[in-house]
Amino acid sequence: MRKVRVLILAIAAGGLLTQQASHSAPAAEQPENARGPQYDVQGRLVRPQNYREWIYLSSGLGMAYSPNPSAPPAFTNVFVEPGAYRAFTATGRWPDKTMFVLEERAAASKGSINKGGHFQTDLRGIAAAVKDENHFPEKWAYFNFGLRAESAPANPKEACWQCHNQHGAVDNTFVQFYPTLKPIAMKFGTYKPRE
Ligand code: HEC
Repeated sequence: MRKVRVLILAIAAGGLLTQQASHSAPAAEQPENARGPQYDVQGRLVRPQNYREWIYLSSGLGMAYSPNPSAPPAFTNVFVEPGAYRAFTATGRWPDKTMFVLEERAAASKGSINKGGHFQTDLRGIAAAVKDENHFPEKWAYFNFGLRAESAPANPKEACWQCHNQHGAVDNTFVQFYPTLKPIAMKFGTYKPRE
């Protein structure tokens, strides 16, 4: 009889615990990428859906990495997932599972009341960078989703990783072009001046 009561109590307590645990962290209230990068069955990265709610870092305009760029100038809007951003502000380093999105948009100058300068228009494509140490031997991997691919395979190392690794000021990322992050990295001594 006593044993039974203890058992019932234990079950009741267990029930409470699980209820409390699920109450303090309901999945629906967590930001999508609190779960980190998601991969499909083929190991392709699933396109991050809500990156427009992440932390905005900067916009390049017509940035080019070769002397004679052929494409018309575009904006590149860079977003980082909020958990990684908070870790960076506290340490000057990117934690494992960091995710970035680079969104490319066309630039226009004629429209409405505009008389000079450029504004952003149509989406040209979405790219992502992910730091996932268990998943990728080089820690960081790079993906292109075009306009709306649901998932994308990691690009070959020569296509993206190499330039990021050689020229990014902090751990494969171009912090030299993100004006709010640069002073943080300098403060923590993680900033490497790079050509
Ligand atoms: C020749 C050098 C170079 C190559 C190759 C390159 N990138 Fe980048 N990438 C940059 C620069 C410079 C920035 C900063 C852009 C800005 O400030 O708008 C950047 C930024 C990014 C970011 C934002 C996060 C970060 O690391 O700073 C992503 C995501 C990204 N690139 C994806 C890619 C993908 C995907 C490829 C391969 C298809 C690629 N890149 C190839 C130079 C390069």
